[in-house]
Amino acid sequence: MLLTTLPVISVIIAFAAGADYKFPNNFKFGVATASYQIEGGWKDGGKGESIWDYQTHTFPNRILDGSNGDIACDSYNKIDEDIRNLKALKVDFYRFSISWPRLLPSGFANEISEDGVRYYNELIDKLIANGIEPMVTLYHWDVPQSIENLGGWTNRAIVDYFGDYARICFKLFGDRVKTWITINEPYSICEYGYGNVITAPYYNSTGIGSYACGHHVILSHAKAYNIYAFEFRFKQRGRVGITVESSWWEPDSNSKEDRTAAENMMQMYFGWFLHPIIKGDYPPVMRLRVDKKSREQHFPRSRLPRFTIKEIIEIKGTIDFLGLNHYTTFMAKSGTDGPVPSNINDVGAILYQKPEWKQSAREVFRLVPWGLRKLLVWVKKEYRNIEVLITENGYAGKEDETTNDIERIEYYNLYLTEVLKAIHEDKCKITGYTAWSFMDNYEWTDGYTMRFGMYYVDFKDPNRTRTPKKSAFVYQNIVVTKKIDTSLDLHEFLH
Ligand SMILES: *[C@@H]1O[C@H](CO)[C@@H](O)[C@H](O)[C@H]1NC(C)=O
Ligand SMILES: *[C@@H]1O[C@H](CO)[C@@H](O)[C@H](O)[C@H]1NC(C)=O
Repeated sequence: MLLTTLPVISVIIAFAAGADYKFPNNFKFGVATASYQIEGGWKDGGKGESIWDYQTHTFPNRILDGSNGDIACDSYNKIDEDIRNLKALKVDFYRFSISWPRLLPSGFANEISEDGVRYYNELIDKLIANGIEPMVTLYHWDVPQSIENLGGWTNRAIVDYFGDYARICFKLFGDRVKTWITINEPYSICEYGYGNVITAPYYNSTGIGSYACGHHVILSHAKAYNIYAFEFRFKQRGRVGITVESSWWEPDSNSKEDRTAAENMMQMYFGWFLHPIIKGDYPPVMRLRVDKKSREQHFPRSRLPRFTIKEIIEIKGTIDFLGLNHYTTFMAKSGTDGPVPSNINDVGAILYQKPEWKQSAREVFRLVPWGLRKLLVWVKKEYRNIEVLITENGYAGKEDETTNDIERIEYYNLYLTEVLKAIHEDKCKITGYTAWSFMDNYEWTDGYTMRFGMYYVDFKDPNRTRTPKKSAFVYQNIVVTKKIDTSLDLHEFLH
């Protein structure tokens, strides 16, 4: 089933205020995925083991439904079908990630997998042949287990290993890939992976391991950026950014304490990574608070590592655009919460969500569209109107969701309306939007119990059949018209 016809317009119903703005002509739309979540083929072509292969095979009970990404959407074997479906959406670009252990089976740069090179070359070439720009994330959570065995992101050695891997990617694919994202969602990698026992590699070291991880993520990003800048940019003329995730943190009251707590969330969650990369070092408030708490907790030195002057110079300004992932909003009030030590405890905020905010299948991913606009305005002010590319935003449906995904349509319409307001009323420099996700896929620790896709994937069918949901038609219409049309008649697509 292809999305070749545009829906007819039925009765015009009231627009949400702001929905009648248009996206600028050069605004780009895309959809996103990540290697482990869609590829499958977990050991095909000599692929090495990632932390997700290792964890899901060794500790299946850590995954809600005991599942894994061994086959996932089988995209390893379905390049042509995926391209057909992308083409039907009429998107300008496709954001996907390269699997580090598929390209470098040992994890190290001593051996490059021929099959890995073939797979990504084929995907990139076919995207370009179909007029879809490839946007590549180098690291979307599947670190080679061989490197994890050395401590993964908590070991400084990863900075050089990541640099080696990045250089190989630039060399192999940079003639065709012009937009690179080094690392996806550092907060989740470090705080959930090395702190809170929520995602692989399931370390339990909040406020210590997670800060070590963050330090090396920042240095690794800068390493890759500088390799590109010095060795490739002149010839390849591409751009390199990083994708950082953040909710919006809304002050619980107008009191100075609550407003400070919310601002500290921005600085110590989002700014933890972006302040060093944009301005050269950790946010002053983060330095101050973590140093002070560390002293109070009898640590002989701060739990937050320090950059040397040389490192600060190397890190500062290593960003051509800011990739932003955003899903929801929290209220923040002043107070002490979380394990001791931990990032949230260092921040000094208590977070909660309002019960009247509409829920999705992921409990904390509640619908709060205005939060995205406030976040975009904060970014504009804090980081001197840096170019923002929204690299993820989307709605979590339940496992039994069908192709009649009206909640997802509502989510996209409402969130994109806020993006329009940020562009037209707040003059934020937002150049693109990426829907998460292209298709239902393996949702990490939640396994296959959640559906984020615009294409429904039948995970019970060995063929992993894909079927467009209603949201695919709505998104296609937005991509083509650069407008949100809340009155689309979707009935003709029901069959
Ligand atoms: C993490 O470590 C702390 C302190 O040892 C312990 O109390 C907690 O139960 C651990 N959490 C998990 C999920 O293992
Ligand atoms: C698998 O799906 C593709 C695309 O929908 C279809 O062309 C093919 O016939 C299917 N194969 C089987 C065995 O069902």
